[in-house]
Amino acid sequence: MTRSLSDWQHSPGASAVHGFLVAGMGLAACFLSNWLGRPVGLPFFGRVSGSVLLDRVQDRRPAFFVRAKRTEAGDGRQTDMAPVLLAATPEGWAARVCQRPLELLSDHAHLERKAANNALELLNRRPPRVGNEWSAELAQIAREETQHLLLVTRILFRRGGALNRVHRNPYAGLLHGHIRFGTGAELLDRLIVSFLIEARSAERFGRLALESEDRELARLYRGLRQSEQGHAAAFLELSTAASDRASVQKRLQEYIEIEAGAIQAQSVGFTLFSGL
Ligand SMILES: [Fe+2]
Ligand SMILES: [Fe+2]
Repeated sequence: MTRSLSDWQHSPGASAVHGFLVAGMGLAACFLSNWLGRPVGLPFFGRVSGSVLLDRVQDRRPAFFVRAKRTEAGDGRQTDMAPVLLAATPEGWAARVCQRPLELLSDHAHLERKAANNALELLNRRPPRVGNEWSAELAQIAREETQHLLLVTRILFRRGGALNRVHRNPYAGLLHGHIRFGTGAELLDRLIVSFLIEARSAERFGRLALESEDRELARLYRGLRQSEQGHAAAFLELSTAASDRASVQKRLQEYIEIEAGAIQAQSVGFTLFSGL
C-alpha cells in the first residue's frame, strides 16, 4: 500500500518538495482510511481512497498485478500498479508492436487527444455537492494528457512520422457500448471506463518500456506508464465522489470483466490496444 501510494502520487514535473508533501499527506490518509475502514478524501490529493477501494476489490477476485522494476526516478524503489486487470497482455505483444514505433506513436497521439477531450468533458459534469477539487483534478488530467500529446507528436514528427487522418479505437468502443447513457448511472460508467482505459494503458506501457531497445522510446513509455497509472487512480477516486461506494464496487466488478473481454477481442495490429 505504501509503495503504490507514493508511486501514484508522484506526478511528472512536480517539485521534490511538493512530492514529499503529497506523499506525507497521502501516507497519513492511507493509515486513517484503513483505521476507519472507509476512504478518506483529501482535496486535490485524493488518490488514497481509490487505492483502498481497489484493495477491497482485489480481495474478492483473482487479479492481475502489473509490476514495474523501478520508479521513473530510477531510485530502485519497487512500484506496484493498480491490481485491476483480469486479462494480462499476452507474451510477445510488446515485441511485435515495437517493430512499428511510428504506427504506435501516431495511434497514441490520438489516444492522448481523446483522453484530454474526455477529461474536459467530465470536468463539466461535476456532481451536486462535490467541491472544486472535482474540476481541479480533471483540469490537471486534461493538462497532462495534452502534454503527453505534445511529447508524443514531437517524437513522431522528428522521426518522420505523421498523424493518421483517421483514428479508430474499437477497444474503447466496446467499453463505451456498456455505458448507461441517459440515466443517473452514466457519469459513474464514464468514470469507470476512463479508469480502466488508463489502467490498461499503464499496463501496456509497462510492457513496452521493458521490451523497447530504443532508449528514447523506453524512457517515453516509462514516463507514460507512471502518469497513466496516476490518472487511473484519480478516476477511481472521482467515481467514489460521483456515486455511493456499493454502486461503485458493483459496477467496477462488472466492468472489469467487460474490459477483459474487450481487450481479448482486439485484432492484431500495432496500436496500444491491439491484439496479438
Ligand atoms: Fe496520457
Ligand atoms: Fe491518462
